[in-house]
Amino acid sequence: MIEKKLLFVCLGNICRSPTAEAVMNWKLKKAGLNHQVVCDSAGIIGYHSGEQADMRMRKHAIKRGYEVTSISRKVKPSIDFEHFDMIIVMDDQNIKDLNMLARSVEERKLIFRMADFRIQFNYDHIPDPYYGDQNGFELVLDLLEDACDGLMEHLETHNQISK
Ligand code: 4NP
Repeated sequence: MIEKKLLFVCLGNICRSPTAEAVMNWKLKKAGLNHQVVCDSAGIIGYHSGEQADMRMRKHAIKRGYEVTSISRKVKPSIDFEHFDMIIVMDDQNIKDLNMLARSVEERKLIFRMADFRIQFNYDHIPDPYYGDQNGFELVLDLLEDACDGLMEHLETHNQISK
């Protein structure tokens, strides 16, 4: 039974958030919890709407076993704030942009920062790899793997999912 609906958000929805969705889905499946959580992702901008994730991101992800399959779409505030339980963003600019799109204090309370779920890494955001080199894509994967572990723990300790 689905108990939790998560939306990961970044700027373009072709690098960080579709990868967060893929990593989280992989970890949920490994833990046998994939029937309790639904993951999706979206971007603040619609520039890449309808496109597959960035080829560089997909190549780095598949080397670690994650298939990034989602198709880019723009955030739909009136639908997404209604439908999802948590909207989990990659950096503080995403928070600012989403706060502008939210229509109430209750909707703003749905917004969480992915890096706040970190366990090992001392980063306060997931850096945008789009204009950087391959190290940036590897860093995104390192940080997302860590934050997804922390997010799983958060969901379990808050009784949102159970083994
Ligand atoms: P993302 O990376 O937000 O992690 O998907 C970006 C992708 C595209 C652009 C910026 C960031 N862009 O400006 O097109």
